[in-house]
Amino acid sequence: ALVSMRQLLDHAAEHGYGIPAFNVNNLEQVQAIMEAAHETDSPVIMQASAGARKYAGEEFLRHLIQAAVESYPHIPVVMHQDHGQSPAVCQGAIDLGFSSVMMDGSLKEDGKTIADYEYNVEVTRTVVEAAHRQGVTVEGELGCLGSLETMQGDKEDGHGAEGTLSMEQLLTDPEQAADFVRRTQLDALAIAIGTSHGAYKFTRKPTGDILSIKRVKEIHARLPNTHLVMHGSSSVPQDLLAEIREFGGDMKETYGVPVEEIQEAIKYGVRKINIDTDIRLAMTAAVRRFLFENPSKFDPREFLKPARLAAKKLCIERYQQFGTAGHA
Ligand code: G3H
Ligand code: 13P
Ligand code: NA
Ligand code: ZN
Repeated sequence: ALVSMRQLLDHAAEHGYGIPAFNVNNLEQVQAIMEAAHETDSPVIMQASAGARKYAGEEFLRHLIQAAVESYPHIPVVMHQDHGQSPAVCQGAIDLGFSSVMMDGSLKEDGKTIADYEYNVEVTRTVVEAAHRQGVTVEGELGCLGSLETMQGDKEDGHGAEGTLSMEQLLTDPEQAADFVRRTQLDALAIAIGTSHGAYKFTRKPTGDILSIKRVKEIHARLPNTHLVMHGSSSVPQDLLAEIREFGGDMKETYGVPVEEIQEAIKYGVRKINIDTDIRLAMTAAVRRFLFENPSKFDPREFLKPARLAAKKLCIERYQQFGTAGHA
């Protein structure tokens, strides 16, 4: 059944586990996530980004997720709008039946100018007021995602702060977070701790100076009852990079967020872990391998099947690693 995200996050907090929130853009990704959830008995958060809405269209995404709900009636499913740029965008998603929305007021509507704090409070509070009247959950964001190695906001997928950022912008301030939660009354808070979107997060396996789990702990100490969200949380598995390279891909050396760091963060209030890139890498590796090994094949079903299977395997791993398995 379609459920509110608040309900799932409350349960996750009560039982001390995290829930991966997977981005979806097409049929095979939705199927992979549902098969993985079914096999591990996990609750599901599927989210659609602005890029997904542009690629597939809101109606297709909504009906794909609805089909998932009908096909797996025993699995709780959240349909979440990822990175809403304005109250109007969030309201549009609520009208379409999304059970959860993110109001990303850390940036202005253009998706690249850093917003001032009062603007963020104002737009987030506006969305919370409307959403809560309809039983819809709201995620907000405080702080700017970006690299503590280069002090740049993330731009790989077209949204993210422009220019050089300060340490204060790249790490969410616990005291300000407390004020933000109190004034907006949001359900879940996305925080900045050195992660960024896309495949190129870190130039080396991250240590505490460039991925601050310490900051997660400080925020959790100040806000023990707030559900925290980690964006940019793909782990960028080295074996997938190797497979992509082996079958003709060209990807530079790069590192993601290690699963053990996420597991540590889950002990300190992180309940929603956003993952898009890892599914992209898994599917691309499988498609490259299949087409390389079967150069005469041309039926998309034949290469989408191993891609779907690879995505499913990745999802199963995360459901198990985050402790989600068994909680559907
Ligand atoms: O929010 C970031 C996600 O990875 C989605 O990216 O806008 O390319 O779909 P996208
Ligand atoms: P990744 O690019 O690390 O998968 O992050 C996805 C995300 O944060 C979506 O909002
Ligand atoms: Na989100
Ligand atoms: Zn994100």
